[in-house]
Amino acid sequence: MIKQIEFKPRGDERGSLIALEVNQEIPFSIQRIYYIYGTKPDVSRGFHAHKNLQQVIFAASGACDLLLDDGVTKQTIRLDSPEKGILINGVVWREMHNFTPDCVLMVLASDVYDESDYLRDYDEFLNWIK
Ligand code: TYD
Repeated sequence: MIKQIEFKPRGDERGSLIALEVNQEIPFSIQRIYYIYGTKPDVSRGFHAHKNLQQVIFAASGACDLLLDDGVTKQTIRLDSPEKGILINGVVWREMHNFTPDCVLMVLASDVYDESDYLRDYDEFLNWIK
């Protein structure tokens, strides 16, 4: 399942603030936060799916393209606002392309890092979801 989430900015004359709370904007218990930044020009990342992980992904700064592929349908979403999050729940192949130099891509995850949860080969991914 892929769902776009609009985060509500609590802006005032000083600027903006977004709060993300478990059981509110984030529908799982956050066990890990990581962020990708300083991505070099023309570098693409990702190229994997997860067997059991839930994630919310957003660009806190800058922008990148998030390609999501459930094995049947591919869609590309431009993450270009700290107010726009994507929830990924299920076995979805993801790739990130076209990073702006200032992109800080935030990932909130439902579990700690576990290499055995990764499907890093596209054919293995297709077999897994069959
Ligand atoms: P990698 O999976 O290649 O990043 P991406 O697929 O998003 O482009 O991860 C880069 C390195 O960081 C790799 O050696 C694994 C390590 N890593 C962790 O140690 N913990 C983590 O939570 C993540 C996401 C990666």
